[in-house]
Order: sequence, then structure tokens, then C-alpha cells
Amino acid sequence: MASTSTQQSNKPILAPSPFSVPSDLPKLPEVAGTDPTRCVLDSFRIAIAKVVADALEPLTVEQVYQGVDYGKKGEDFTVALPRFKLPGKIDELAKKVIAKFQPDEWIESVTHDRAFLHFRCRTNTLTRLVLDQIHALTYDTASKQPEYGANYLGEGKRVIIEYSSPNIAKSFHVGHLRSTIIGAFLANLYKACGWEVLSLNYLGDWGTQFGLIAVGFEKYGSQEALEKDAIQHLFEIYVKVNAEAEKDPSIRDEAAAWFKRMEDGDEEALKNWRVWRQLSVRKYAEEYDRLNVHFDAYTGESEVPQESMDKALKQLQELNLIEEDNGALRVNLEKYKLGKAVVRKRDGTSIYLTRDIGGAVERYNKYKFDKMIYVISAQQDMHVAQFFKVLELMGFDWAKNLEHVNYGLVQGMSTRKGTVVFLDQIIREAASVMHEQMRKNEDKYNAIEDPEYVAQEIGITGIKIQDMAAKRINNYTFNWDRMLSFEGDTGPYLQYAHVRLSSIERKNPELLPLPAPSQLKTDLLVEPQAREIAFLLGTYPDVVKTALKTHEPSGIVTFGFRLSHAISSAWETVIVKGEQDKEKAKARMALYLAARDVLGAALRLLSIRPLERM
Ligand code: ARG
Repeated sequence: MASTSTQQSNKPILAPSPFSVPSDLPKLPEVAGTDPTRCVLDSFRIAIAKVVADALEPLTVEQVYQGVDYGKKGEDFTVALPRFKLPGKIDELAKKVIAKFQPDEWIESVTHDRAFLHFRCRTNTLTRLVLDQIHALTYDTASKQPEYGANYLGEGKRVIIEYSSPNIAKSFHVGHLRSTIIGAFLANLYKACGWEVLSLNYLGDWGTQFGLIAVGFEKYGSQEALEKDAIQHLFEIYVKVNAEAEKDPSIRDEAAAWFKRMEDGDEEALKNWRVWRQLSVRKYAEEYDRLNVHFDAYTGESEVPQESMDKALKQLQELNLIEEDNGALRVNLEKYKLGKAVVRKRDGTSIYLTRDIGGAVERYNKYKFDKMIYVISAQQDMHVAQFFKVLELMGFDWAKNLEHVNYGLVQGMSTRKGTVVFLDQIIREAASVMHEQMRKNEDKYNAIEDPEYVAQEIGITGIKIQDMAAKRINNYTFNWDRMLSFEGDTGPYLQYAHVRLSSIERKNPELLPLPAPSQLKTDLLVEPQAREIAFLLGTYPDVVKTALKTHEPSGIVTFGFRLSHAISSAWETVIVKGEQDKEKAKARMALYLAARDVLGAALRLLSIRPLERM
């Protein structure tokens, strides 16, 4: 195991942003926790905070900064004066600010509306800086940098993110799919924010069901079928032998005895299991690849060392938390309203809960994480609360750095052929429904180079966007038609927006190459639609920051929709092709390309591969 000191030297070294605020603009004070080199809106917020603080002593820029918001329709930034709890009438305070205000290259005007002050930023400064910053963070990166939108709040810290974690030989249900999708997003998000991420797939590769499969394999196993599709074959065996065991209890005893041999490390009993696991992992890795999801390591319940579980049990006994129940051992967490939970079976074999306890200790010893996130269904809230509590009671300081990212249920996941049990069925169904959808437009369809691939990518995008569009905890119903439609807020709609933006370069080659952003005539971008796009692009770093706090992908999805809508609204008026003024056409093109880059970054963060053509 690497020592702590060598681990530290492995941490990513993060280069400074290649963007700096131009020196021709009025100088602004620094505010802790902001980074104008990665978020242009920080500068505008500071400029506004300075205006207010200068007028309303003894308020400080820092204090006002916290109260500078955006999101009010028709306004750029808003400050609600009552929040500062200053003496005097709000009206008077507002008048004071307005009287003292001098327009500059940051802020163009301020208006007063009851308790609020609304600030409008200088359009050209906004547009110029946003385009410049996006360009710098997307293209000027000598060292491999995270994209625009990233911030370095978590600089160099280490997080373990465990997600997907299906059970070998059981079905891959939609709960696992959600964990996979949300987990992949979180891994990308933490990476973008400067964390060192270790993504783990913790396979359900241990437990009595493997005894059952071993018994079943002797009867129904086929080496050939196993090689062909291990996941499917093992599942079939499991279903058959499980049904048999319903009628014949002796099969269960036989299975339990077999699993006991596995736990005792009997090589003969482990031989087949090892092959099953390996073939299943191979197949899973292929499917994750198609989903654009990756793991740094496949671990599993089988890998939790016996000693680490024994040690945990001993410690719990010493803490007087263990009681015996008919030969089994239980931990009593009633004091914490977490019930009682079995930690060791009567025959001495381990169980899910104990493996999670031992597994966490093991991971800490091995990786010394600053944070560990488990992406597991809300159905297991109790289980997770129990093992987090046990680790805390055992006195591990790091137990406070464990986080459960949970999510609701999905109903109605089935294909036209029937119920879904495997991940590859889900992917195939998405691709085929999408393919049919695309065929409806024969002309367009014929222009696509590789329709199979495109259908699969858009299909997968549809699944992911439907899954991440709302708060994690919400349940939703799986609806192929809705999620794969090009209309409404869907994955295909986002891909379509990206494709349309990508076509601009192909359709206007005479404008290329574009000058550097600082040489563009951004003052020609005067349409409200163009301004709206620029402002939205400026908010993206905030959107990412919020997602890191809430662990909600929905904010990123919503951002993608808003940006795509803004682009749709601009498309007819803010034209590139057909614009006579070449300078204007270039500035507009640069705006659309920045929008493409940011939409692409948002999609990538969501683990989606943005398409260039469809
Ligand atoms: N394999 C489990 C299941 O399918 C999920 C594992 C979640 N992770 C954990 N550390 N318990 O239910």
C-alpha cells in the first residue's frame, strides 16, 4: 500500500486559469471564495457589491456580495436591501445607492423597485469576457485542464465514488441503471472540480445465491452459453434453481453448505465462481463502455477481507452493541431509531451489512479518502444509515465523511418484448425505438452516415436525460416515447441543439478561422437574444458549483434546456449565414460556437457524448 506521502504527490497539480480579467477594465477588489478567472459573473457581482457597499457604509463588499442574485425575469442582477438589516427606510437606502452610482464598464445602470435594486451589466463587457473566458478555458490549455465551468473548490482532495454495483447472476434493474447514470455524473463533476476521483463498482458477487448457482450450474450449466453471455446464462440458472428450491428446501441447505465452503476459502468451491465473476465483469465493462461510463476498479462484496469483518464485530461486541439471537449476531441500533440488524448468520457466514462495514474500513485504510460517496437507491436508506452509524460508533473519525447519494424508484421499465432484466436489453431497446423515430424523416435519415450508431447514442442520451431531469429523490415512470421524442425537454432535443450549433462551422467556412475573441467585434452583438445567450453561458460555472453542493444532476440538465431554448429563439434573428456585415457574422458565429462548447461540456459532465451530426 502506498504511504500517505507518496499518495499526496500523486494528486493532480492544477494549473492557473489561462484567462485573466483584462486590465483596461476598472479594477475590482478581491472577494474570498470567488474566482473571476473561471467565472466572469463573479466580477460583475463584485462590481455590484462595491457599488452598494460604497454607498451604504458600514456594509462591506463581502457582505453585499452574498446578496447579489440573478434569476429575476428581465433583470441581470438583483440585490434585496432588507437582508442587510440596516437602520433607516429601505427607500432611503435605495436612493442613496442610486445617487452615488456612476455607470462604468462593468455596470451600466441601476433601478429601484420596492425593496430591490436591479443592476444591468454592460453588454459588451459581458459578452466579450464570457466569450474570451470560454475560449481560453476550452482551447488555450497547455496542460490538460478541466473545461469551462469547472472550479477548484476541492483542489487536490480525494473522493471515492461507488456506483452501479449490480449483482452478478441477478437482474440489472433500473435501480442499478440510475446508480450508474448518477454515479458517472458525480465522478465527472468531482473531477471537473479538481478532486482526485476513484470510481468503484462494488459488485454483488458474494452471498448464498452463489451457493445456489453452484448447485444449479451442476445441473444446467453450459460452458458454451457461459462464454457467450455470462450474465444471461447465470441469471437463467439462478431463476431455475431458485424455483426448484421453492419446492425442495434441501436445495437451499445444499446451497448454504456450498457457500460456507466458499467463505472458508475452499479452492474447489471457488473455481467456477471465479470464472463467472470474470466473464460477467468483462460483459459489464462492454456495456458500460457503450454508456460512456467507466470505473477505476471493480471490487465486490467478495473482496471484503474476513479479518476486517471479524475485527469490526469484535469492536462492536466490546462496545456492547451486539446481542445474540438464536445463534446469529445482531447489532442493536434502536437507540438511534435504526432498529436491529443481523451482522453474522447462525452458520457464521457474513452478510451484506457486515461486508459494507468491513469494506468501508478496508477502503479507508487503502485510500485515505477525504470523502466517500455511495450512490444507492433510497430503498436502501435504512441499510446505509445503519452501516454509517456503526462506523461512527466504532469511533472512526472519517465516518463523518461518508455520504449517501440516494434516488427514487423507476416504474414501468419494460421493452416491447416484455420485462427487462439486462442492461444490454435496455440499450438495444433505446437504440431501436430511436431508429424507428429517425426513419420517419426519410430524407434526413438517408443523410446520416452511421444511423445505427447515431440511434444508439441518441437513445442512450434520452434515457440519461429522462433520468437526470428531475430531483434524484423523485420517482418517475419510464416512457420510451416521451424520452425519445425530439420535441419537448428530452435528450434528443439537446443532441439536436448541439448538432445544429456544430453545423455552423461547416455551413460558413468563409468566416473561418475566427479571430481571437479579443479581436472580435463583440459590440455588434446587440440583440436581446444574443445577450441572453451570453448571460446564460456566464452562469454555467455557478450551475456546476451548485451541482457539486447538491449532488443533483438536474441543475445541469435544466441549464442545457435553457441554453437550447435561448439558441432556438436566437436562430431566426441572430443569423450567421446571409449576414452581410462579415464582422457581425463572425461575432455571432463565435457566440454560437461558445454555446456549442458549453452545451457540449454540460453534456459531457452528464456522461453524454455530444453528437456533431445526426
Ligand atoms: N449490489 C447491491 C444491490 O444490488 C447494491 C450495492 C450498493 N453498495 C453498497 N455498498 N451496499 O442491491
